[in-house]
Amino acid sequence: MRIHRFLSLLVAFVMFSRANAFFGYVEVQCLYTSTRDVIYMEKLYINKLLMAEYNSTLGNYTGYTAKMKDLTDEANKVKKFKERAKKNLDECKSNIPLVFDALTKPVEPTVKLKLVDVADSRHPSMLVCSAYGFYPKLIRVSWLRDGKETTTDVTSTEELSNGNWLYQIHSHLEFTPKSGEKISCRVEHASLMEPKLYDWEPVVEAERNKYAVGSAGLLLGLLFFITGLIFYKKNSTGRTLVPTSPPLHS
Ligand SMILES: *[C@@H]1O[C@H](CO)[C@@H](O)[C@H](O)[C@H]1NC(C)=O
Ligand SMILES: *[C@@H]1O[C@H](CO)[C@@H](O)[C@H](O)[C@H]1NC(C)=O
Repeated sequence: MRIHRFLSLLVAFVMFSRANAFFGYVEVQCLYTSTRDVIYMEKLYINKLLMAEYNSTLGNYTGYTAKMKDLTDEANKVKKFKERAKKNLDECKSNIPLVFDALTKPVEPTVKLKLVDVADSRHPSMLVCSAYGFYPKLIRVSWLRDGKETTTDVTSTEELSNGNWLYQIHSHLEFTPKSGEKISCRVEHASLMEPKLYDWEPVVEAERNKYAVGSAGLLLGLLFFITGLIFYKKNSTGRTLVPTSPPLHS
């Protein structure tokens, strides 16, 4: 039985004796299982050691040291303790719809497509399709080239846990760019009514040229600025700048 999700409440207390200080705490948990059930747990720790626990499946307290065993045996005879635990279990149960229907609702992934250059590969380019922050874990990420699914030159990571019930996955497609070819990443997930396509939009040539012209303009501006600065210095000090390069060997 897999523990699916839990809500836990921590009750901390500090116990003092004359010579030593103990730190103890009680952990109170509703453990929701994959079978849409719940276990109510109480755990008593003293100085980080588990001393005793209550598990609603057993319906009694268990002690883990000789002294605690005596205490839990006593506690198991007290009707009030068990009644209180039973009431807390019912409280946990009343949250089953919330936990299973609201909290475990599928969460749609955020998908990003990016191009990376790979040096040591048969293909010069690689597309990475990353799906972030989805739930549940089951997902399918695939690649379409001109509308047809391809599995060659495709690698993928596992579904990686984010540690907060959400997952991420990264799929890679190595390829040689072909002009006019349409490449898409397809995501299938419980949060989506139908498979979702994310098309790769290559930076078109005109766009790239614009960048080139832009940076060339910037360089030219910088050149004029520096030349201007040199002339300004030359004129204001009345000295010429002599380059100090070492003599060339012939
Ligand atoms: C509670 O007790 C049951 C029965 O012994 C056991 O299967 C289960 O793992 C226990 N749960 C926890 C969270 O310790
Ligand atoms: C707790 O309950 C289980 C099952 O009902 C029983 O086997 C076990 O001996 C009990 N433990 C204590 C400490 O009473």
